[in-house]
Amino acid sequence: VSRVIVVGSGVAGLIAALEASVRHEVVLVTKSQLAESNTRYAQGGIAAALFPDDSVESHIADTLVAGAGLCDPEAVRVLCAEGPDRVRDLIALGVAFDTDTNGELARGHEAAHSHKRVVHAGGDATGLAIELALVAAVQKAVVEVHENAFMVDLVVADGAVRGVELLTPAGRRTLAADAVILASGGAGRLYAHTTNPAVTTGDGIAAAWRAGAVLGDLEFYQFHPTSLAVPGNPLVSEAVRGEGAVLLASDGSRFMTGVHPQAELAPRDVVARGIAGQMARQDGAPVLLDATGLGRDFLAARFPGITAVCEAHGFDWAAEPIPVTPAAHYWMGGVRTDTEGRTSLPGLFGVGEVACTGVHGANRLASNSLLESLVFAWRAAHALDDGLGGVAAATPFEGAAIPGGSRLGEENEPASRVDRAQLRQLMWDAAGLYRNADALEQAAATLDGWTAASADRSAAATVAELEDRNLLDLGRLVVRSAVDREESRGAHFRSDFPDTSAAFAHHSSYRLTPEVALVD
Ligand code: SIN
Repeated sequence: VSRVIVVGSGVAGLIAALEASVRHEVVLVTKSQLAESNTRYAQGGIAAALFPDDSVESHIADTLVAGAGLCDPEAVRVLCAEGPDRVRDLIALGVAFDTDTNGELARGHEAAHSHKRVVHAGGDATGLAIELALVAAVQKAVVEVHENAFMVDLVVADGAVRGVELLTPAGRRTLAADAVILASGGAGRLYAHTTNPAVTTGDGIAAAWRAGAVLGDLEFYQFHPTSLAVPGNPLVSEAVRGEGAVLLASDGSRFMTGVHPQAELAPRDVVARGIAGQMARQDGAPVLLDATGLGRDFLAARFPGITAVCEAHGFDWAAEPIPVTPAAHYWMGGVRTDTEGRTSLPGLFGVGEVACTGVHGANRLASNSLLESLVFAWRAAHALDDGLGGVAAATPFEGAAIPGGSRLGEENEPASRVDRAQLRQLMWDAAGLYRNADALEQAAATLDGWTAASADRSAAATVAELEDRNLLDLGRLVVRSAVDREESRGAHFRSDFPDTSAAFAHHSSYRLTPEVALVD
């Protein structure tokens, strides 16, 4: 029996903890409450080839197309082939996926899927149904749970990860383990507008970075096309367009028909940029999502959560189109892993949004993220049985480098300490849906200045300050990665390099060595 620490309590962390607890001593730490995570806000559902007219091959093909040439084909095959069994595991655990009038699993349609294959629960409350079922299972399993336990950093000894340093309400403490599975999610809070909850500050990715793990594809941040255009940007699921809702300009005309043959159901990056472009043409005003054609009863039954959110903000979406705008949603990049969650550091695994398995390439196919968590968390938990070491570190190669620590070059502005709202706005403006070298370079200088002003990191005492540190580290990495990729591909769009270039048909990889070096 080995001791394993799982960090994070979304679907990836809960599955990893449950599966590992059968054979190992498992400690699960989570920064908030056990049931709080990005997972619980997922609406659309889980894509899997569960239906007779569908196939694993078709799901693979759709995933590869969406990924714009950067998917890892082996990882995609694993995802699509093992996905159906992992969804059946959830059903066995008691997750009540919605059924149709014949009692068969109901299936939704989402953008860039050639088949209807998205299973959902509670209409648009899929993530909540999964989260609550898994929390109940973990509470019954032999798993030691620490809530309100914020991971400050990984503990590294002799080049291997051997535990975590935590900040808890009782103070700092260190937990030792034979292996650590990071499942602490993405970093939507890097951006001024995001569908993600407050906990998504990239803590696991940033800690892995500081520990020396190889990160990859950080320039690929997915912006969901439709969040309600109100503070907090609540998600309006892609499934709404899958059911037939359309996007309208402020003059009432459909604009996506002129952008892509699949119009509102074009790949997510295309729709998001289409909306952003239309908003620019109408002085920044949000576009409208017209779901009135779906009917009041259908909307209330199929999308009860979105209906309630609309009502709370004074919109009757059965009677009138609602204002929507893109918002940061999902990070394709993260800690580079193999198909069993192993990272470049022995003893460190990464699963869920923390990880860059390569399944999403440059642009994730809708409803593939819960699936990724299910499949790869399960595989990582089982890989522990084969030994707790990680794969050999990837070999660094020569490339552009920036220091990982604080720096204040002569060229930089006088620095002031980072303010999270300013950081998020800077990222939105310079490293959002449209990017260019000038804005990115200016952002890089500002971020360097803030980093220098925050140099005394040991002084970071509160969770909020530690989160700021993480966001700052990750913001610099996103900007650096976006500068380096002088092309447009998937979610990464450079106005100064609008075409896709064969010269960049590869993953980007970075590690702190102590400099950031490109590796591949
Ligand atoms: C949605 O419901 O639109 C989100 C689905 C996803 O991000 O995969």
